[in-house]
Parts: sequence; C-alpha cells; structure tokens
Amino acid sequence: MGQRTPAPGDRSTTASGAPAPSDQLSLTVGPDGPLVLHDVHFVEQMAHFNREKVPERQPHAKGSGAFGFFEVTEDVSQFTRAAVFQPGARTDVLVRFSTVAGEMGSPDTWRDVRGFAVRFYTSEGNYDLVGNNTPIFFVRDPMKFPHFIRSQKRLPDSGLRDNHMQWDFWTLAPESAHQVTYLMGDRGLPRTWRHMNGYGSHTFMWVNAGGERFWVKYHFKTDLGWQTMTNAEAAEMAGLDADFHRRDLFEAIARGDHPSWTLKVQVMPYDDAPGYRFNPFDLTKVWPHSDHPLITVGRLVLTRNPENHFAQIEQAAFSPGNTVPGIGLSPDKMLLARSFAYTDAQRNRIGTNFHQLPVNKPIVPVDTYMFDGHMAYEHSGAQPTYAPNSGGRPFSAGGAHPEESWAADGDMVRAAYELHPEDDDFGQAGTLVREVMDDAQRDRLVEQVAGSLLGGVRGEVLERAFWYWHQIDPDVGKRIEETVRHGAAREPAAGMGES
Ligand code: HEM
Repeated sequence: MGQRTPAPGDRSTTASGAPAPSDQLSLTVGPDGPLVLHDVHFVEQMAHFNREKVPERQPHAKGSGAFGFFEVTEDVSQFTRAAVFQPGARTDVLVRFSTVAGEMGSPDTWRDVRGFAVRFYTSEGNYDLVGNNTPIFFVRDPMKFPHFIRSQKRLPDSGLRDNHMQWDFWTLAPESAHQVTYLMGDRGLPRTWRHMNGYGSHTFMWVNAGGERFWVKYHFKTDLGWQTMTNAEAAEMAGLDADFHRRDLFEAIARGDHPSWTLKVQVMPYDDAPGYRFNPFDLTKVWPHSDHPLITVGRLVLTRNPENHFAQIEQAAFSPGNTVPGIGLSPDKMLLARSFAYTDAQRNRIGTNFHQLPVNKPIVPVDTYMFDGHMAYEHSGAQPTYAPNSGGRPFSAGGAHPEESWAADGDMVRAAYELHPEDDDFGQAGTLVREVMDDAQRDRLVEQVAGSLLGGVRGEVLERAFWYWHQIDPDVGKRIEETVRHGAAREPAAGMGES
C-alpha cells in the first residue's frame, strides 16, 4: 500500500553516473538472507549519509538567506571609487540572516542579536559586509570574543544555557553595556528578518578616485519599518514554529513580496578621527547622526530564494576580509581580527577550497597562486605554480603604498584604546535608555532585564548586575533592582535560552 511503482524510464544514478540498481531494496542472499558487501550502491549511500553533515558555524549557526541585487541610486563617488558604489551600478547579492548563540536547530525567535551578512558579487571581486542588526557590539578587543561567545552558549556539565553565566561575563566586561541595553530592548526580538535594519557596525575605510580617504559606517534601513515581537509572542512562536524567520523570508520571496533595504552611510573625513569626541574605531560606540548625518547610497532587494539550502546558504562563506579596491578595513581591532577568523573557520567547516564553490565564486576570473588541496576543482592548468616565473604567468608586484591603509606607529603594547574625551563604557547606553527609548520601551526594558536576572542569576553576579544597570541609568537601575529584589517581574522573559 502506498508504494509508488516507478514508471518505465524512471531512474536515479550512482555517483559515477551509471543507472542505480535500486533505491528501495538492498541486495541480500535470498529474501531473508544477509547483506552482501558488493552491493556498491547501497554501501555508497550509507557511507555518504554518514558524512552529509559539516560542522555548523561556531557562532551564527542558525540562519537562512536569499539572493537579490543592490542598485546605487545616489552619487557617492566623491567618497569611494569602488565599482559597486558608482552611480547606476547594479550588483547581484547574497544575504544571510542568523541568530548568534543558538545552534543550527534553535528557535529563530529567542532573544539575540541577528546576523546580517551581505555579499556583493562585484565586477572587482566579492565584497562581503558581514554585519548585524545592531550598530554596536559587546566587546572591543578580539581577545575577548571567544570568551563572550562561550558565555552565551552552554554550561560544560549540564549542557544548558545559563543566564548566570551570561550576566557574569557582561558585568565583568562593562563595555558590553551599550549592546546589552540594545539587546534587552524591543529590538532584541525582531518580528521578522524583513522588519529589521542591518549595520556594518564597524568603521570602514572608503577611498575615492583621487586617493582621498574617509571613514564610513553602513546602515541598511528596512523599507518595511522596524517591527518587533513581545516576549510572549516570541516565546509562543519559539514553540509553534522554531523556523519562523526562515519560513517568513522564504514564503515572502516565493509570493513575490520582495523585501528591500535602503543603504545609507555616515562619512567622516580621514583626518577628523583623532579629534573626534568618541574613539571612532571603538565598536561599542555609535556616531551620533547629529555629528555625521546619514547619506543615501542605494537599495538592496531580495528577489530569489535558494534552490538548495545546503549548497547555497550553509556553504556560503562570508568574510570581513573580502574587500575590493576603494574599500578598506580600519584600526578597529575587532575588524582586524575578523579579517583572519572567517576564512580560517571556513577552511575547517567547508574545506580548503571553499572559495571554489559556486556560491562563493566571484563573477570575475580568479587567478590565484593558492594551489591544490582537498577538492580542488578550478585550476590554472599547466602554468607555473610559483611567482616570479619566466613562464609568462602574471603575478602582482605592487603594493608598496596600499591606498586602503592608515598611519600606525608606536611600541607594541597590550592596551585598551586611547580614550577620546567622551569615551566610557556606560555613556551611550544611558543615552539609548533616556533619549531613544520612550516610557513604554523603558518599562519593557526593566521587565525584560528583571525577568532575565530572576532566571537564575545569583550572589555577586546579581549584585554586579544591579551596579551595572545603575551605571547605565540610575532610575532604570533602581527599578530593575527593586523588581528583582521583590520578585515582582510580571511575566517570564522570552529567549536567551531559559530566562
Ligand atoms: C573578534 C570578533 C569576531 C570573531 C573572531 C568572529 C568570528 C566568527 C566566525 C568564526 C564565524 C563563523 C564563520 C563561518 O563559519 O562561516 C562568524 C560568523 C558571523 N559573524 Fe562573527 N566574529 C566576530 C565578531 C563579529 C561582529 C562584530 C559581527 C557583526 C558586526 C559579526 C557578525 C557575524 C555574522 C553575521 C556571522 C554569520 C555569517 C554568515 O551568515 O555566514 N561577528 N563570526
């Protein structure tokens, strides 16, 4: 009953292309007899199955994405000569959205920062802008990054997520205050990926055709407007549909409802950085728009779903180190560390030649001296494998004065950034609470933080959390402390694992 009889001519093949003997029945000695090893097709199926998973991304494991285009609508050529941002340019893109801490199967609606990774397949090579839905981050020195991520993941003994561990790390790294305030606010629970902004977060460099340098920050503003979920909605959705955000994007694109974002940038002249009131390379700070207004660049539109999630999304390999002429990194230490970390992760996660896969391949010809390795597919034929060579294969010999670079000098030290006049750990977090949030948002912030702290945070960590919130804002700090001390949180908070 229910078994489909193959039509004449129906057939799959073996990996080597020959007709597959059967995808339904294994070869045995008599109907009840033992299996035989020379049922090559069966043995291949079993062996490949055992290898069909690759390691998930260490952070940002759960996500999905889509293809589309980016078109330049304004003229920003005075700031960058990058082809992708020249007037009228239209470039194919891939965007992957993700949560940070959860594993591959974790619910999309747990409270967390969301990844917003954009790949531009430009005429000058791939340009990757691997950002988040927040303009800032938890730490400002990359040495702390693995520690931060582990504090958001699972306990070594029980394998459970743990609010106590999260608050322990955050309160011992008070530079996290701005991002934690953002995360605990309404925007920590976006309604969908279509209803949230994306940010490059770091400061990057742009260089124009005349060699003039600028510092820039990227903002992708959702054209649908920000929408968020309440804790109750998010908690319910986590149970009803763990893949809600993935499904929402896929279904919206499938019905022709193409989400779009307007790209804006903030631009700072190169020489203004040393005298700016905040350290412009500190990833825990925003540049107030009153200092550096938003300048529109163009429009990002997602129009095409992946045909195969694994091949095109799971194997997508974004890297902040993938830049193009006219765009550079900056002295942000986090960004500099990231320029190494991603491709290293991908060599492990996908394989040495991950860049040869269709989703990672640039649209321009690649002529690299990276040679051989597992699964090499593209190759340079019988050309010399070394440079310099007298066999006529070109090699690059320039680079004495890279344009996308900056002056750096001094003794080697292990030190925090030099402070600019208004730099501290808590100032901008306080501004967010007092000047950006309204009364209702502040009420929800107090409720969310108190609920999270009531979810198992204890002893000196709890006392430090009260201190931390008092530093951010005395009034909000007092309300959080009172709510927790009196156990008066009205409803349990959603997300962050088990709060
Ligand atoms: C020192 C700091 C950081 C390190 C070492 C780091 C490292 C990593 C690694 C190893 C991955 C997995 C890559 C892969 O397997 O393909 C990853 C993913 C990701 N990271 Fe970071 N990260 C850092 C900070 C940040 C920051 C500040 C942002 C955002 C502003 C960010 C956004 C992302 C995103 C969006 C992904 C997922 C990319 C995708 O969709 O494939 N990370 N990170």
